[in-house]
Amino acid sequence: MKSVAICSSLSLAVSALASKCAAQCQGAEVITRDVAIIGGGATGTYAAINLKDAGKSIVVVEKKGELGGHTATYHDPATGTPVNYGLQVYYDHPLSRAFFSRLNISVSQGTFPTSGHTPKYIDFTDGVELSNYSVPGVNDDYLAELHKYPYLENGLELPDPVPEDLLLPWSEYMTKFNITDDAFATYSRPAVAGDLTKTLALFVFNNLNTVMLEEEIDGKTIVNANGDYAEPFRNALAELGADVLLNSTVASGQRGAKPSDGVRLCVSTPSGSKQIVAKQLVFAAPPVLDNLAPFGLDAREENIVSKFAGGFYYTGVVTNPGLPQNHSYVNRGQTTESNVASLPGNIMFNPTAVEGTWYYWYTALSAMTQDQVEAATRDTLKRLQQSVAGADAAAEPQFVAYNSHTPLHPTADADAIRAGVYRDMYNLQGYRNTWYTGSLMITGSPQLWNITSQLLPKIIAASEQ
Ligand SMILES: Cc1cc2nc3c(=O)[nH]c(=O)nc-3n(C[C@H](O)[C@H](O)[C@H](O)COP(=O)(O)OP(=O)(O)OC[C@H]3O[C@@H](n4cnc5c(N)ncnc54)[C@H](O)[C@@H]3O)c2cc1C
Ligand SMILES: *[C@@H]1O[C@H](CO)[C@@H](O)[C@H](O)[C@H]1NC(C)=O
Ligand SMILES: *[C@@H]1O[C@H](CO)[C@@H](O)[C@H](O)[C@H]1NC(C)=O
Ligand SMILES: *[C@@H]1O[C@H](CO)[C@@H](O)[C@H](O)[C@H]1NC(C)=O
Ligand SMILES: *[C@@H]1O[C@H](CO)[C@@H](O)[C@H](O)[C@H]1NC(C)=O
Ligand SMILES: *[C@@H]1O[C@H](CO)[C@@H](O)[C@H](O)[C@H]1NC(C)=O
Ligand SMILES: *[C@@H]1O[C@H](CO)[C@@H](O)[C@H](O)[C@H]1NC(C)=O
Repeated sequence: MKSVAICSSLSLAVSALASKCAAQCQGAEVITRDVAIIGGGATGTYAAINLKDAGKSIVVVEKKGELGGHTATYHDPATGTPVNYGLQVYYDHPLSRAFFSRLNISVSQGTFPTSGHTPKYIDFTDGVELSNYSVPGVNDDYLAELHKYPYLENGLELPDPVPEDLLLPWSEYMTKFNITDDAFATYSRPAVAGDLTKTLALFVFNNLNTVMLEEEIDGKTIVNANGDYAEPFRNALAELGADVLLNSTVASGQRGAKPSDGVRLCVSTPSGSKQIVAKQLVFAAPPVLDNLAPFGLDAREENIVSKFAGGFYYTGVVTNPGLPQNHSYVNRGQTTESNVASLPGNIMFNPTAVEGTWYYWYTALSAMTQDQVEAATRDTLKRLQQSVAGADAAAEPQFVAYNSHTPLHPTADADAIRAGVYRDMYNLQGYRNTWYTGSLMITGSPQLWNITSQLLPKIIAASEQ
């Protein structure tokens, strides 16, 4: 830990930093590649496979023990049945189909988390069901507002100045433009961290964009036909083999100003430190200061990335929750604005194909440990067991899988956006041989693949200079 802190300290003179960090990698194996990719989620894996197919040598540095990022799949030990408790569906787009086909995956039409189970809307703070509540539909008023901002459909390349309306919290935007009846957008995607009434309108439109509406309203989605959503990422791992360093993080790095200066990284891996010498760097992990500090940021870079912070989001699988199997249970506030759930708290409990095995999502306003998330989830279930008709109040929930999605989808605040942080972030592309992709710009994987596919030619060109 100490060496990481030293290596990432921004106050040290660059030369002193370089020599301290070089010490950790002294004599370590050297991995020489065209492109180093940080993060093996949806975007990093896409970049890795496509760069490889373009004839580039790559290495992926992934913090966790598997590829896939927000994809989370538990296998029922008795039957092997997959239970997907993270990502649920992909937008049906030629790019998605091509990527799955490249990974030998057959696809079928996807369904949304709650389909097949009638949702019950309950205030999880007291277990009381909301009477006569239903999620409002998307109406033309929302679409009219969305269509004012076409530049939010495929990223965050914002006009200058940024329209002040976009910097309003969503509840204020809804009031100002009289679309409070259209609170659907307030629940746009359940996998959004924090209180959606306080989310800036900019991010609501960027998230619940035309592509997302086609997914949610028209069902234009695909999934793995066999239901094991981790399979594409296992296949990608098999394909990339030793070019993926799992359970690994960058301890220190140096990036030159010119393409010929390239990138040098010292990586902590389960088999000791390794050096990476690469021409270009693709950063496909959340671009927050914690993740980027080891890369030897200069003042310009630090000033930009320090403006981004991700949300607090956790998911897991629980058996024996004691809830009647044929509903999903969704958290809504009895008395809150737009009936948003009170936070921190569970978003929902969903039954799965395995009887007695459920998954849950949880969002908070500050960081939580696995123990805290599971204890809070157990408390919620115990409350629901008391109030839900047909529940078994004696059932003792067992927690069998867990995933932290924190920091989820980093965003900047209104002042930083007004001051041009997204413009500055886009202008960082290629600076010091570093390229950024991933969920800073848009939410859904297929749109991220689209954005990444347009970035790759530039990265390839830079690696050939
Ligand atoms: C619960 C949930 C459900 C979702 N459902 C859907 C859905 O149904 N459809 C959809 O299209 N999108 C969905 N999303 C959105 C999802 O964020 C994107 O689709 C996509 O996964 C983002 O990909 P990414 O590569 O940018 O990020 P990630 O998938 O988060 O990948 C980042 C990777 O970087 C790794 N990493 C982090 N820090 C470091 C570090 N310091 N060093 C090395 N590696 C690091 C992480 O472990 C991770 O593997 C969902 C998100 C969540 C949280
Ligand atoms: C990664 O870490 C996990 C948890 O410690 C471990 O189970 C797994 O075997 C590790 N994988 C690799 C490739 O090191
Ligand atoms: C796809 O299948 C072919 C034929 O079996 C195999 O050679 C290839 O390695 C597989 N690729 C992936 C990514 O699974
Ligand atoms: C719910 O709706 C039904 C039918 O519209 C109505 O009869 C009933 O009074 C409503 N209940 C409450 C609590 O509003
Ligand atoms: C607000 O919208 C509703 C319908 O959504 C409409 O009935 C009402 O007249 C509108 N109010 C104003 C002030 O425009
Ligand atoms: C499903 O729930 C309804 C009540 O909402 C109940 O009547 C029915 O018996 C349940 N079915 C099963 C299989 O649990
Ligand atoms: C893919 O990117 C192109 C170019 O920016 C854009 O025009 C198109 O709408 C994007 N497609 C999707 C599905 O996001």
